Amino acid sequence: MANVIKQFNIAVSRFIFNIEGFGSMSKGVLKVFSEVAHLYELVNHVLTFGLDIPWRKKAAQVAASGGGTLWLEVCSGTGEMAVNLGKLAGSDTKIIVSDFSMPMVSRASEKEGLRKASISLTDSQQLPFPDKTFDLVVISFATRNITPNRLRLTQSLREFHRVLKPGGRFINLETSQPSSTPLRIAFRLYSKHVIKMFGRIISGSKTGYAYLAHTVPRFFNAEDLSDILYESGFSKVDYTKMTFGAVAIHRAVK
Ligand SMILES: C[S@@+](CC[C@H](N)C(=O)[O-])C[C@H]1O[C@@H](n2cnc3c(N)ncnc32)[C@H](O)[C@@H]1O
Repeated sequence: MANVIKQFNIAVSRFIFNIEGFGSMSKGVLKVFSEVAHLYELVNHVLTFGLDIPWRKKAAQVAASGGGTLWLEVCSGTGEMAVNLGKLAGSDTKIIVSDFSMPMVSRASEKEGLRKASISLTDSQQLPFPDKTFDLVVISFATRNITPNRLRLTQSLREFHRVLKPGGRFINLETSQPSSTPLRIAFRLYSKHVIKMFGRIISGSKTGYAYLAHTVPRFFNAEDLSDILYESGFSKVDYTKMTFGAVAIHRAVK
């Protein structure tokens, strides 16, 4: 582990640059998130009625409960989940916080709670870490953004599986699909109309929240995502639904 951490710390600053190039889908996603980074947290709190705060807190508790000394958060955005993880990490636990959007990671780097974390500008689909490195990989509200395509999502999840140690855990917090039909319809209407309109008004980005409104109702339900995790090589997959199934935390083991 010492070698891995040394490798992370040789960067001139806390930033480690690992971006080599993206496909066109990733370029679009990168543009969207870089555009909304300055207001990202505010828009999230407003559009979820503040529920994203307890959702992340709960996911961080689930993630931290398994212990370990080297944790990776991918697609970390402004670092809100990482701050939660930092509060629960043991004194000998090192956290690597990574995202491919510079405006997002620079916001994360300003957070008081992340002073001890390493920040990595990294594409989650090509992680610059050796096999079997981490005890824990965490992702929140981003699996949906990596790709809506089942096969490509499986490939991306395999990359998280690759960098986990045998027995290491993967925790995924993501929007899901309520099981009750009326609630599912209401959730879809809310995503399609309210997220799009208020996201645009608050953030000033026309395309950013149109994109989010498009992906939320189309993402896999909790059962399908479990199957995808098994297809990606994980075992012992289970999940907890929250807020009538609008959101789910998946746990999986390598
Ligand atoms: C909806 S935000 C979620 C941010 C944070 N995890 C949270 O809980 O608020 C999605 C994040 O995923 C990042 N992202 C999307 N695709 C990525 C990829 N291929 N590699 C790295 N980061 C990616 C975006 O830059 C963005 O910061």
